[in-house]
Amino acid sequence: MNPPSSVYADFNPEDYGLPNEQEIASWISGYTALPSNSPRAQPITEGVHPVIVAEQNARDSHTRAYFSDEKIGRIDTPLALRRVGSRSLKNIREDFPILAERIENKPVIWLDNAATTQRPKQVIERLVQYYEHENSNVHRGAHALAARSTDAYEAAREKIARFIGAPDKEDIVYVRGTTEGVNLVAQSYVKPLLNPGDEIILTQLEHHANIVPWQQIAQETGATLRIAAVDETGQILLSEYARLFSKKTRFAAFTHVSNALGVITPAEEMIAIAHCFGVAALVDAAQSVPHLPINVTALDADFLVFSGHKIFGPTGIGAVYGKKTFWEAARPWQGGGNMIADVTFERTQYRAAPAKFEAGTGNIADAIGLGAALDYVSAIGLAHISRYEHDLLEYATKTLSEIKGVRLIGRAAQKTGVLSFVLEGRSVEEVGQHLSKAGIAVRAGHHCAQPILRHFGLEATVRPSFAFYNLPEEIDALARVVRSLA
Ligand code: ALA
Repeated sequence: MNPPSSVYADFNPEDYGLPNEQEIASWISGYTALPSNSPRAQPITEGVHPVIVAEQNARDSHTRAYFSDEKIGRIDTPLALRRVGSRSLKNIREDFPILAERIENKPVIWLDNAATTQRPKQVIERLVQYYEHENSNVHRGAHALAARSTDAYEAAREKIARFIGAPDKEDIVYVRGTTEGVNLVAQSYVKPLLNPGDEIILTQLEHHANIVPWQQIAQETGATLRIAAVDETGQILLSEYARLFSKKTRFAAFTHVSNALGVITPAEEMIAIAHCFGVAALVDAAQSVPHLPINVTALDADFLVFSGHKIFGPTGIGAVYGKKTFWEAARPWQGGGNMIADVTFERTQYRAAPAKFEAGTGNIADAIGLGAALDYVSAIGLAHISRYEHDLLEYATKTLSEIKGVRLIGRAAQKTGVLSFVLEGRSVEEVGQHLSKAGIAVRAGHHCAQPILRHFGLEATVRPSFAFYNLPEEIDALARVVRSLA
């Protein structure tokens, strides 16, 4: 099989009204308006520089999405009256059986949502229904249960496509989760493009799952990784990012939301810059899909990956969106049943995507459970969820930053509900253990994102992370423990 060529090899930016490579090179060489370490320290003047305008656009769109006069989760409103969208917060919490669990004889306070979220009973019941009434292998049997199971499995694929704005359900490939999704794209699409000296662009914010697969294929092919820097708030320096691209760049991959800091990157602008250089980009949306409205078509993402368990669905299931042309160019990465059109001992003909990348029996029940989770989230509405979680973030940032000795890491203007902090004189393990004794679950450690923590001179932080079922009172409980240790 011939290695696939880049689908963007014949891409002419001018056809799309985008600047060409020479224009970008000249902006970059004449680019003196901002100091390299902090573009946000300077007033933004419209029309100064395309990268600055892109930054301004990114900032405006985030501001539009996150700030509102309506403070939905106000602590001074009785719980029974609080709402997220049209749903009462009290009813939402009752959907999650585990929130009634007691730890150390206290109600559990789940502030570890960036590690995994809890499941509503609608998802749990859907799994039970599947095993009690629909269980069968898919795409294979001629019997009634096979039809039920296949219909539900493919309906979940359709829900995923709709949820992220993909044009077609066939653009969605099921995987175990984000990690497997990044590995799939690295092995199937990117590795065959690489020659010695070629480059892949990542950012300092990446989770290990969006570093190691690229490092592995770079080592195997003689390619190198180039890393985009962040400013002192943890936000990507778009101008520095644009400077990394050249004729040697073959691919770009970046996170939409940093798992360690919660910083939201300007994904649309980062993709547009990659496209100006004829380079395709993958978005790691593990931490953004559960918290922000995402539309892959509006973003013009080439690949986007996310995990079910971070969006109130089961573990062991996730999805990769890819543009059709890329799936066509990519080679299969695992061989087996389900993905073949015809097999002899001499050769195999593959089916088109998604089957081409789904060898063997998939995680049928959990894919259906993920579909139920997306229905649940859609019924509340991501616009409402992101607004409510932003209120929680603002409240928590204010509350924690008032505690003496607390150092908050990554205070970018655009963030989801994640705080990362250290407490002077106390190890992160000590803080984590004290919180656990109070029934409060947070992650304390390196969050599988060592490069970004080391960039801030740290090996570990304490990381409370919020979801729409969390309460300001839970943030108060967290703050009480931290204050008692300070
Ligand atoms: N990636 C998960 C986290 O950030 C596990 O905690």
